[in-house]
Amino acid sequence: MAAFLFGLLLFAMQSPPIPSTPAAYSSPSPLPPPGDNGSAGVVHPNGTVQRLPDIVIIGVRKGGTRALIEMLSLHSAVAAAQNEVHFFDWESHFQKGLPWYVRQMPYALPGQLTVEKTPAYFTAGKVPGRLHRVNPDAKLLLILRDPTERVLSDYTQVSYNRLLKHKRHRPIEEVLVKDGEVNLDYKALNRSLYHVHMQNWLRYFPLGSVHVVDGDALIRDPFPEVQRVERFLRLPPQIDASNFYFNRTKGFYCLRDRGRERCLHDSKGRAHPRVAPDILHKLYRFFHEPNRKFFELVGRTFDWN
Ligand SMILES: *[C@@H]1O[C@H](CO)[C@@H](O)[C@H](O)[C@H]1NC(C)=O
Ligand SMILES: *[C@@H]1O[C@H](CO)[C@@H](O)[C@H](O)[C@H]1NC(C)=O
Ligand SMILES: *[C@@H]1O[C@H](CO)[C@@H](O)[C@H](O)[C@H]1NC(C)=O
Ligand SMILES: *[C@@H]1O[C@H](CO)[C@@H](O)[C@H](O)[C@H]1NC(C)=O
Repeated sequence: MAAFLFGLLLFAMQSPPIPSTPAAYSSPSPLPPPGDNGSAGVVHPNGTVQRLPDIVIIGVRKGGTRALIEMLSLHSAVAAAQNEVHFFDWESHFQKGLPWYVRQMPYALPGQLTVEKTPAYFTAGKVPGRLHRVNPDAKLLLILRDPTERVLSDYTQVSYNRLLKHKRHRPIEEVLVKDGEVNLDYKALNRSLYHVHMQNWLRYFPLGSVHVVDGDALIRDPFPEVQRVERFLRLPPQIDASNFYFNRTKGFYCLRDRGRERCLHDSKGRAHPRVAPDILHKLYRFFHEPNRKFFELVGRTFDWN
């Protein structure tokens, strides 16, 4: 929280090029070993700093995390990591320790908040405890969609990757249903059991540290959802409606950033498989109870089937 407030303060002061450095911003070396979270940060000669993220987009896979981080990057007080870092969920990365993690972070100007997104964090059991040890004050963004839509989108992505690797095509009925019932062993299905994973996060972080973004709403009409994110992060309101324009060919909103226009990668709009209506209804019915439990956990309902 201190670093966060300090950041806002600097932002308000129109950020001098080199901050008078508190502990969190100083001494590029020696870097702390994993576990010593207090002073991780690398200061560069041009006044930028790589440091632990203030904000983590924790998921969910196929929820719209790329769109969210791109939209958040429209704000001048946000510096976003380019790649999915997979620090807390991949053992090989985690073993490299915090100095490695910090080096994956963006070059942030003084006063900017740093953000990374790794959609797999939400459903990886070890992540909340590990992240909490590193930064108990982290602001968490979780973008969710209708869980059935998310499963189909997850299936579509996996099928596409299998196709590229010349692996056998698995029809959706084969993975989704077992002995006439919804197949609980299907990993993509489990990833949509939002309450199971949320419970795990709430063992470590207070609900107030998590903001759930409505991914369906973000696609339909991004601006109001992005405003809610700005408010949650206590960023000065800066992103506005003119940052978004609808591309009729794509059927999606694209972004306008200081005159530069960009749309998300085409894979983000891949068509879903045709699913037999009885299977679709099985899924809707199946998710009814998990959804209810999730709404109860977060004290908010979503317009899901
Ligand atoms: C570092 O982690 C400890 C718990 O291991 C926590 O009590 C402390 O607040 C953390 N410090 C910072 C600056 O995040
Ligand atoms: C600052 O320096 C880093 C490291 O050399 C570089 O990658 C980055 O683009 C620079 N940023 C600015 C704003 O000059
Ligand atoms: C879903 O995944 C979680 C976390 O990996 C696990 O604890 C749970 O048992 C799984 N649930 C089902 C129904 O397979
Ligand atoms: C709109 O989308 C089409 C199709 O992807 C693309 O070719 C075009 O450049 C986009 N136009 C604008 C203004 O974003």
